[in-house]
Amino acid sequence: HKRIGILTSGGDCAGLNAVVRAVVRRAVGTYGWEVLGIQQATLGLLANPAKVLSLDIKTVDSWLTAGGTYLGTTNTGNPFAFPMEDGTLRDRSEEIINAYHQLGLNALIGIGGDGSMAILRKLAQQGNWNLVGIPKTIDNDVGITERSIGFDTAVNIATEALDRLHFTAASHSRVMILEVMGRDAGHIAISAGIAGGADIILIPEIPYSIERLCQKLKEWQRRGKNYALIIVAESVPNVDGEHITSTNTAGQCRLGGVGQYLADQICSRNIAETRVTVLGHIQRGGIPSPLDRLTASAFGVAAVDLIAAEQYDQLVTWQNRMVKSEPIANAIAQYHCVDPDGTLIKTARGLGIYLGE
Ligand code: F6P
Repeated sequence: HKRIGILTSGGDCAGLNAVVRAVVRRAVGTYGWEVLGIQQATLGLLANPAKVLSLDIKTVDSWLTAGGTYLGTTNTGNPFAFPMEDGTLRDRSEEIINAYHQLGLNALIGIGGDGSMAILRKLAQQGNWNLVGIPKTIDNDVGITERSIGFDTAVNIATEALDRLHFTAASHSRVMILEVMGRDAGHIAISAGIAGGADIILIPEIPYSIERLCQKLKEWQRRGKNYALIIVAESVPNVDGEHITSTNTAGQCRLGGVGQYLADQICSRNIAETRVTVLGHIQRGGIPSPLDRLTASAFGVAAVDLIAAEQYDQLVTWQNRMVKSEPIANAIAQYHCVDPDGTLIKTARGLGIYLGE
């Protein structure tokens, strides 16, 4: 018999509740273990008493399709430099480590991106925890794994936004700019851009020039195309290399910027009437796509099986059409950007989409 904990950490995304459901069905249903859902990630372990929910199969019955995370999450409050009310930062890792032992946990499943994994792994090493990780992020930037929970849903939402913009752009002969998330990577932009028929895709992995971009727009106008769709990843800089959009860099909280910057450049050259949509957190919410539900279910079952086999410090991954696992350290050491020579870039170029350079 084992008692395992599970928490969701970092920014939420679609599919987190589906993972918890799969973990409970496997751990409780197959192995007869106990599962404790830890609320608000490590904040739940800092609370006294710890904030946990006992999860059984009935509790998670409807969790497959629910967006967000019923366990709650946080992406502030690094336990090694925890922001205190008086403005100071304090190392509170000991308190969190002790809570794991006081709850009598035999293992912990942490669902998070690379930042959360690094923190959880440090706690696990320092506190002798048995940790298994599951990758989630709409940004798709976790190394090694080909899939992370939440990415597919975000791509679906961004693609649908382009589909909608398409018609209004054509009706008004406008350039429509869609700014999407992705943190330091352009995965959402390149995937949704191809799937949604964008004419221009800008990602941080490939430098671009405003002059070339405007030339492209004029070329299309000359050929009789009366509108254009541009998708831009939030971390694309301006031509001076400065980052404009910054959603959660310490001390800043600005959503949107690079889209408006591009619109100003296009308008100041009198190319076309231009409008900007900043998709923002819409990409994170809502019902998980079938692929995210499937990945979440497979990852949840695999994580419990790793615990049954007492294989810890492992991240569940999707590689070569299979669910596997890798040491967490390997995955977080390899930040995963869009490969500028990869298939998606070749596809986009082959379609005549302007990508920069
Ligand atoms: O990492 C997920 C993500 O949504 C990024 O794409 C984005 O930059 C950031 O989190 C937004 O963070 P917050 O929810 O703190 O504004």
